[in-house]
Amino acid sequence: MYRHFSAAVVGSINMDLILRMDRVPETGENVLGSSYGYANGGKGANQAVGLARLGAKTKMIGKVCADENGRTLLAHLLAEGVDVSGVSTDGSQTGLAAILLDGAGKNRIVVFECANAEIDPEAAARCLLPPPDLLLVQFETREDVVVSCVNEAVKNGVTTVIDCGPAKNFALEKMPGADILSPNESETLALTGIYPSDDGAVRKACEILSARSKARYVVLKLGARGCAVWDGRRLQFLPAYETKVVDTTAAGDCFTAAMALEYKRTGDIIAACDMGNRAGSIAVSRLGAADSMPTAEELYK
Ligand code: ATP
Ligand code: RIB
Repeated sequence: MYRHFSAAVVGSINMDLILRMDRVPETGENVLGSSYGYANGGKGANQAVGLARLGAKTKMIGKVCADENGRTLLAHLLAEGVDVSGVSTDGSQTGLAAILLDGAGKNRIVVFECANAEIDPEAAARCLLPPPDLLLVQFETREDVVVSCVNEAVKNGVTTVIDCGPAKNFALEKMPGADILSPNESETLALTGIYPSDDGAVRKACEILSARSKARYVVLKLGARGCAVWDGRRLQFLPAYETKVVDTTAAGDCFTAAMALEYKRTGDIIAACDMGNRAGSIAVSRLGAADSMPTAEELYK
């Protein structure tokens, strides 16, 4: 359906170790887990799979190691139809995320950046030539990589979406002029010092994010509350779609991929955010990260 759009994702590629338990242990406590398993993850790779499943011609730019996890993750991206010519395999070790998942579907994640922290900023920016129609970046790589890729894309008129995960106070001032800046609640707190708990706090946080990033739109992902859109003058809340929550991991990645592609297609930020909410509600109803992304048939029916 959206096959004619080309997208690039610069970001992390992780093996996710999912550890399931009724509740996570307190300090010094020992609890029994119910099951564990491995899944394809990393914020960058999840968003690349999200875009590819929705029909975009998608290129992944990142780094793994030529170890077993690296080979598995690259094979998975290829099987999803993602172009991996921008992924180098000379990292010291492939990234890994240990995800503690409780009975309510809530997670706590420990990330081992490894190869993701070894991406070269100039090499990554070179992979953005010729310019794609759409660029997605996240904060699970080094700040200089994100800065150099966003600046290259903005200079070339590429529709650029910055997903601010995980929570870090990156220098938004060094990457001005993106189309959309999109943090979740904890990322908003890290970037503004404000937790977006009520309408007033959401508005204040959006104003700060807008001033710092000069992004055209700020979109806050608000979990079960849906999202909020700020265009510099007006704040709009879009409610989430009700669903049974199994695992919230990568809901934000799924939201960002679906929102970005819909924005590229229509130029309508409200329709795009509604699509993000729809996609996010599908992702939370499934276990895993990249594997929980919806297909075009599921999302656009
Ligand atoms: P993660 O870091 O786990 O990938 P996130 O914290 O970045 O996720 P959230 O804000 O939790 O992202 O969720 C992203 C989007 O997914 C929300 O804006 C909403 O559209 C959808 N979503 C999340 N939780 C729920 C829920 N309980 N019910 C319905 N939709 C949800
Ligand atoms: O956003 C979800 C992702 O964050 C997981 O796949 C995990 O790899 C962590 O980086």
